[in-house]
Amino acid sequence: MRIILVGYGVVGKGVTTILARKYTEKVKDNGFSPKIVAIADIDGAVINPRGLSPEKLEAIRQRGYPISADPEFGHKGMPALDVIESVEAEVVVEVTPVNIKNGEPALSHITRAFKTGKHVVTTNKGPLALAMPALTELAEYNNVYLRFSGTVGGGTPMLEFAKKCLAGDKILAIRGILNGTTNYILTEMSQNRVTFQEALANAQKLGYAEREPSMDIDGFDTACKVVILANWILNKKITLKDVDRTGIRDVSLQALDEASKRGNTIKLIGSIDGDKATVKPTEIPKNNPICVSGVLNAITFFTEFAGEQTLVGKGAGGIETASAVLRDLLDIRHKLATKILA
Ligand code: HSE
Repeated sequence: MRIILVGYGVVGKGVTTILARKYTEKVKDNGFSPKIVAIADIDGAVINPRGLSPEKLEAIRQRGYPISADPEFGHKGMPALDVIESVEAEVVVEVTPVNIKNGEPALSHITRAFKTGKHVVTTNKGPLALAMPALTELAEYNNVYLRFSGTVGGGTPMLEFAKKCLAGDKILAIRGILNGTTNYILTEMSQNRVTFQEALANAQKLGYAEREPSMDIDGFDTACKVVILANWILNKKITLKDVDRTGIRDVSLQALDEASKRGNTIKLIGSIDGDKATVKPTEIPKNNPICVSGVLNAITFFTEFAGEQTLVGKGAGGIETASAVLRDLLDIRHKLATKILA
């Protein structure tokens, strides 16, 4: 499987690390044999149609920016769209930073990939939050797969759990902590008396936070995930503007202390209940299964037959999210091998 990687930030580096390891494990995954044939970033690209070797990927990572300075395979200034258009590959992995104003540049990367017959794996919530119904239709029209399991829950397979493990049951409502950064900040504030600003700076250093901190703090990131869950799991054709959203800027240490005296704490909760999609700081009991600490995410699916099902896992981080990319690549590989388009 030839792969074009678009975006070389925290997640992009995680993807090269994980795939380089997989190069040598072909047999284990039923012949899955990934090859990164190009990496495109803002400064240009590195391209080797025969596949960038693990040593080369490591050298690129060590050298840092600009990646296009690679003496052997560097293409200074080559736009990602040209790379997608001209390099032969089966899959584009799109991991550029999130933009919820117009979804760009990811939206163009994804649609160009579709038009050139390439499947897409993305961890980018922007295009999906703004135009998920249209994008899934466009993928079908072009006869290619669009996979995005890293967009919700980081490495934790929340979308697959709901879609595959709960198939046959009816999911009535969804409720969860879907943003690692705000959960980390609220946990640091309430348990370690760290200030809001200090906790945010730490989350940025640890690679959890979005490039634009308002995305996390003001609840946009959670709202994007609510949109993806609503569309993919509950078949509700909503976009970002349909989510009633409040962030955590006004959650004070005092409010956290008062909640604590009642055996509760405050978490940023995203939920879908009937036609209502909401993101807001909510007081919840400390013994509720979704009441998890630090960068953890947790989600409860309220089902008709199996009752409440809760999944907990790390919701952010480069290597964790990259593991979701690998999961999606394996899913595409499996679908292609069995020639089912779903
Ligand atoms: N900034 C996001 C978070 C990254 O903190 O959850 C993962 O989507």
